[in-house]
Amino acid sequence: TPRVFSGIKPSGGLTLGNYLGAIKRFVDMQGSDFETIYCVVDMHAVTVWQDPADLRHATREVAAGYLAAGIDPEKSILFNQARVSAHAELGWLFNCVARVGWMNRMTQFKDKAGENAEGVSLGLYAYPSLMAADILLYHATHVPVGEDQKQHVELTRDIANKFNHDYKTDFFPQTEPVIEGPAMRVMNLRDGTKKMSKSGESDMERINMTDDADTIAKKFKKAKSDAEPLPETLEGLTDRPEARNLVNIYAALSDMTNAQVIAEYAGAGWGRFKPALADLAVEKLAPVSGEMARLMADPAEIDRLMARGAERANEIAQPILAKTFDIMGFVR
Ligand code: TYM
Repeated sequence: TPRVFSGIKPSGGLTLGNYLGAIKRFVDMQGSDFETIYCVVDMHAVTVWQDPADLRHATREVAAGYLAAGIDPEKSILFNQARVSAHAELGWLFNCVARVGWMNRMTQFKDKAGENAEGVSLGLYAYPSLMAADILLYHATHVPVGEDQKQHVELTRDIANKFNHDYKTDFFPQTEPVIEGPAMRVMNLRDGTKKMSKSGESDMERINMTDDADTIAKKFKKAKSDAEPLPETLEGLTDRPEARNLVNIYAALSDMTNAQVIAEYAGAGWGRFKPALADLAVEKLAPVSGEMARLMADPAEIDRLMARGAERANEIAQPILAKTFDIMGFVR
């Protein structure tokens, strides 16, 4: 069975973007077609400063988010990265395969570093090579991610290809990013040209998985839209980033296509659509956030589940790491 790997950073709380672009789809892939491995990538989080108490809390909260949304620790392997040291080891080996020029082309690094490329951590720069290690340590072939991670998954293929070529082997498989559905890039509620992210400056621009019903309703009500009603056809969303984003979110939450949403709300005003969207969001998110809160009341149980997941992850990772060392000529 083909293997799926994906991860979420515990840096701040989970957003609706993480839920629709990642977690909800991870749940959909769980089952008979794939072996699924989902990670809380804590070692990626520390590429930018994390207060230790916040990191601990966020690590458990991301695990709680996975579980609350329907990741079943019997069906999937669920763990945190720091418990499987093979990630760091393979990450180092890949630092020696990847080229500096490849890292220089990573748009996410450029966005995050901004004007201050000299002052960021070396880890932030090397981040994509650790991400390649996360995936290839399990020989995963399918990587469900949001649009913003596409370039990193493509880099993973480049690293696998260079390793295979340099060592005349076919040890590492080709990886496919799985990017499909209406919510691959959930946008900021105040500016439809920017991505919704954990770190945006105003809380009004994002929906957090821990927001209560009133907050969710208020944020959708105040979300930026435009003066036109919803269009009669999909083409009518062209050049209307805010309108498109709200339709995308509705479609993803309701498991409809954009075309179906447009068909249902053709010509509707925002005064009708926004409350419907807020109700839908509350209906879908409230059970998840309620369950997250319940799980967070017992952090020891979350830790126990992650530790068990890490044992299973290690069973797959260790032979692949050992073989990589062997191919490269290490004496161990
Ligand atoms: P991270 O933690 O930033 O985001 C986790 C997942 O959520 C998706 N996502 C979004 N999708 C749609 N709209 C949005 N506004 C939005 N914001 C976030 C991301 O695309 C991602 O799928 N580098 C990764 C973590 C990672 C990883 C991996 C992923 C580390 N190793 C190996 C896959 C495989 C990251 O920073 O994701």
